[in-house]
Amino acid sequence: MTKIYLGSDHGGFLLKQGLYAFLSGKGYSIEDCGVFSEASAHYPEIALSVCKKVLKEAGSIGILICGTGIGMSITANKIPGIRAALCHEPLSAKMSRAHNNANVLCLGGRMIGYLMACSIVEFFLNTPFDEGRHSHRLSLIQELEKESQHES
Ligand code: RB5
Repeated sequence: MTKIYLGSDHGGFLLKQGLYAFLSGKGYSIEDCGVFSEASAHYPEIALSVCKKVLKEAGSIGILICGTGIGMSITANKIPGIRAALCHEPLSAKMSRAHNNANVLCLGGRMIGYLMACSIVEFFLNTPFDEGRHSHRLSLIQELEKESQHES
């Protein structure tokens, strides 16, 4: 079963707790990468820690939650190899897997409710990558990442 790395800042803490229970109940292996309270925290630190783990373990996925999901997605998408999708409804989550082979799902803990989040996560976890023409597009993203690393 897919290994899941889960992380949030304070704005996503409550939703993270809810999703941890939801996914554990479904038998997923989940590592909670923090935060562990509603005390103010810095979302880039959590995003980096979750994304590093996702990159180390092939086939694993990350779920990152902040207040809007925006800070987490901006940060995660700066890390080469990470394809993070910020989703507010299930169809985007499904398409992010089918067309973009997203390996990180970002959610806004202050934007969506628990049941919507569960549905989004289920679509994300249960949709395979379609490959085909989409693989070539992902290789173009990889090239772009390499080029920008060389420029810096
Ligand atoms: C924290 O107040 C908030 O800025 C953060 O959770 C997130 O929404 C940032 O994008």
